[in-house]
Amino acid sequence: MTPTFTLENRLPADYFTEALRSDALHGLTAHPKSLPPTWFYDAHGSDLFEQITALPEYYPTRTEHGILTARAPEIAAAVHARTLVELGSGSSVKTRLLLDAMLAAGPLREYVPVDVSESALRQAAKGLGQSYPDLGVHALVADFHQHLGLAGTRGPRLLAFLGGTIGNLLPEARAAFLARVAAELEPGDALLLGTDLVKDPATLVAAYDDSAGVTAEFNKNVLSVLDHGLDADFAPDDFRHVAVWDAEHEWIEMRLRALHPLSVKVRELDLVVFFEEGEDLHTETSAKFREQGVRDELQRAGLTLRHWWTDPAEQYALSLSFPAGG
Ligand code: SAH
Ligand code: AVI
Repeated sequence: MTPTFTLENRLPADYFTEALRSDALHGLTAHPKSLPPTWFYDAHGSDLFEQITALPEYYPTRTEHGILTARAPEIAAAVHARTLVELGSGSSVKTRLLLDAMLAAGPLREYVPVDVSESALRQAAKGLGQSYPDLGVHALVADFHQHLGLAGTRGPRLLAFLGGTIGNLLPEARAAFLARVAAELEPGDALLLGTDLVKDPATLVAAYDDSAGVTAEFNKNVLSVLDHGLDADFAPDDFRHVAVWDAEHEWIEMRLRALHPLSVKVRELDLVVFFEEGEDLHTETSAKFREQGVRDELQRAGLTLRHWWTDPAEQYALSLSFPAGG
């Protein structure tokens, strides 16, 4: 096969209107108000996320990078994958460590990055084409709740879900997602999962409320997505960025807290949303994990965890799992 770059858009044609309408209508009329975190990632949100990954307080990216640096050859040897599929691939920067090790090990031919952000995929693909001229790169603009990117690919496949993005799914959605993964993986395929670990709350809160204010800007960016997509008049200065550690659920919540009583018009929905002073709009959950919990969740889905790798400080973990019986 001649190496190629293709980009396929699997989002429904009306995704940025209908799905946004439906999520906003549901979330802004709920108690408490909430929005799914996928709406952070327009082109500006994707850029802001990349800035977050370089912040001193945001340890997950550099820690996962360190684990991948140490373990990528072992991962490549354990899977013999012909195809690497990556969900929520973003800039694909850390993926290069996997690509290098998998190409050195031999059989890798195809990389399928899957992301809802077309701008992130295009940006990533530019550099990948230059660095890996012999690799077929088939980018999919898709929602990983709808498409895992595995259909039509040749095995053995490694499905990578890095960055701790699995923690942005609530427990019920996570279980459904992992069950779909288990159903689509075949014998010889594997799942490489990045999970941020439970640690002291001060470190966690600082990672989601950095001193330079980049995470605050990332959080407030969702308001401009609503303003542009639904002709709304949210003003970022009416809200304060808040990061809260929920010790019971062991997750961080990002919220936007109204600084004073507000009424916001969302013209495309014919809706006026009222906020009391101090009322929160919940914008993201970022769950933190423990080893036994990850093992149990994978097992309940039908996946067997065979490798668990952490950094020396046990801040973050990568795990490699296989379909049970596979
Ligand atoms: N994996 C990268 C990026 C993590 S940021 C890293 O570890 O640095 C989360 C990524 O998931 C973003 O690129 C965002 O656009 C993407 N994303 C969020 N929700 C998604 C969804 N429902 N379907 C597909 N991609 C999604
Ligand atoms: C993409 N995801 C794993 C990030 C996280 O840490 O939950 C998104 C993020 N939110 C604030 N900072 C980074």
